[in-house]
Amino acid sequence: MIERADMGAALEVILKKDILTLSDLEQTDFSLFFQRAQELKSRHKKGICEKSLAGKTVGLIFEKPSTRTRISFEAATAQLGGTPLFIQAGDTQLSRDEPVADTARVLERYLDALVLRTYSQAMQEEFARIASIPIINALTDRFHPCQVLSDLFTVIEFKGGLSGVKIAWVGDGNNMAHSWINAAAKLDFTLALACPEGYMPDAEILSAAKAVAGDRISVTSDPVAAVSGADVVNTDVWASMGQEAQAEKRRQVFAPFQVNNELLSHGAKDVIVMHCLPAHRGEEITADVLDGSRSVVWDQTENKLHMHKAILEVLIAG
Ligand code: CP
Ligand code: NVA
Repeated sequence: MIERADMGAALEVILKKDILTLSDLEQTDFSLFFQRAQELKSRHKKGICEKSLAGKTVGLIFEKPSTRTRISFEAATAQLGGTPLFIQAGDTQLSRDEPVADTARVLERYLDALVLRTYSQAMQEEFARIASIPIINALTDRFHPCQVLSDLFTVIEFKGGLSGVKIAWVGDGNNMAHSWINAAAKLDFTLALACPEGYMPDAEILSAAKAVAGDRISVTSDPVAAVSGADVVNTDVWASMGQEAQAEKRRQVFAPFQVNNELLSHGAKDVIVMHCLPAHRGEEITADVLDGSRSVVWDQTENKLHMHKAILEVLIAG
């Protein structure tokens, strides 16, 4: 736990220093991030220049490719007056078996925060255990917390809040699905997941969340049931990074889970469609839906910039 920087009376909150999963956050933390992301977005649109990260250095080490998360974290740092330093994990001594603990001890001497994209969640937990600086999960095989944080912010923008909103997840029970499940345990919305048999979310993650959220979280293998009356329909790639060898098999298994106009006809009249991107038109989502009037994906992707600024400010500004 650390005391966050003073950014005004409304934001005087104590926050844990790492964001490894959304289970790390309390409701007040979510509120703080949503409020600050909204303020930063509005000020950005007015051309107001913030320098809240002046003198701060944010490292990013990625084992997997990234367009949005990397560039929005780098841009967020730079626009707030800090310095981002990106390095592919393969270019560090981690790739030559330098221990994570030694790397963490080194990097805490150079950096104010470290943004990590790794295959393993355990690796990030070890970084967090050793390093005194905040560790921010920019995706693992298990979770994608910062993405879902900014996606929740997008839902609030479009639906006016989360309370009473039904969000459908259609597709793989993957890292994104896990972070949505974690979020539903903390915040008051309904989450209906539709995943093929054999591709369901992790049972432990699900049962821990359902112990808190009860019937607000449901899982089915029937996409129509999940989308029925939904205010938001959310999907993701069928084969995540690292699953390329399974892509062909997954295309067959997941075919009935495509987000298309027929499926959306079961949603609420003003249903919106979300996708964290990258998207594969004609696979998990049709081109007419992704590029159509119900899609909010470009606002969704923009919000990563504003939310990442909020995260960095809350964790290291001041
Ligand atoms: N949504 C998302 O995390 O995209 P990138 O893989 O491009 O960062
Ligand atoms: N589930 C996807 C998310 C990409 C942002 C993956 O892990 O590749």
